[in-house]
Amino acid sequence: MVIQLAESKIAEMKEKIGDKKVLLALSGGVDSSVSGVLLHKAIGANLTCVFVDTGLMRYKEGDHVEELFARQYGANFIRINAKDRFLAKLKGITDPEEKRKVIGEEFVRIFEEEAKKIGHVDYFAQGTIYPDVLESGTETSELIKSHHNVGGLPDVVDFEEIIEPLRELFKEDVRALGDSLGMPQNIVYRQPFPGPGLAVRILGEVTDEKIEILRKADHIVTTEIENADMGKTVWQYFAILTNSLAVGIVDDKRTYGNVIAVRVVGSENAITATWTKVPYHVLDIISKRITTEIREVTRVVCDITNKPPGTIEWE
Ligand code: XMP
Repeated sequence: MVIQLAESKIAEMKEKIGDKKVLLALSGGVDSSVSGVLLHKAIGANLTCVFVDTGLMRYKEGDHVEELFARQYGANFIRINAKDRFLAKLKGITDPEEKRKVIGEEFVRIFEEEAKKIGHVDYFAQGTIYPDVLESGTETSELIKSHHNVGGLPDVVDFEEIIEPLRELFKEDVRALGDSLGMPQNIVYRQPFPGPGLAVRILGEVTDEKIEILRKADHIVTTEIENADMGKTVWQYFAILTNSLAVGIVDDKRTYGNVIAVRVVGSENAITATWTKVPYHVLDIISKRITTEIREVTRVVCDITNKPPGTIEWE
């Protein structure tokens, strides 16, 4: 069934695109990566993957994406290191929707610039999946959150059409598709990650220093949940840098440090989610590692909120 789906998707893309040129917004997440492999198999050198490293990615994420597409698949791959641009745009912004808007707009600018450098491009492709479509508002559903990978682009980008090979699929279908395409497990089973990245997991203003703190904490949470063999049974597991400070003791002195929250949820499709009862000994390791390895953090708390009413992300 799934192999047929892969074959029919590749055939459908080949037929639709012909010998036109496609620019893919590759984030490195499972959705855009599977879209990338499908398109690469369908149109080869007529695909150019543009990966914007926003500086808001997880630990070593950008390097992994580059390794897979540029080296393993040999695709046309452009990596843009745009951290400074994003940070400059985010300066002083604390409102969650405003952050998403600013990041989405900057993505569009960068893609426009890249498309100009590449020359003529007919289609713009992205890894939108069905839950993104639902949550970005349809004629019947109210806008919940502006997902930059759905909202905004069509009005401002001058491409003939937007191609979304996975638009009608849920995450598990996308993963099965990735498996049938022979893609590496660490990409196929990578957790969903929001387009605006760590910016929506840093409450309040985003700064370079806060990104560094959160990236380290997130890497610890991810590693320990995976070490505990919970990797495939949980849907998402990550750290949040709350906008609160708490008193703590570091090197026998009272300090005032950051509060990190740990969020681990189970879900089928991200539309609803249940907080995961992570074994205490795993939480204990996470807490000890974060507070000993990251000096700026004095306290670790656990998010025990289901969706609804909470969303999975904090912003
Ligand atoms: P929420 O926080 O609304 O998230 O419960 C539902 C799922 O969507 C992911 N998410 C995003 N994915 N771009 C994306 O590609 C985004 O802007 C975005 N915001 C949230 C979130 O991680 C969860 O899996």
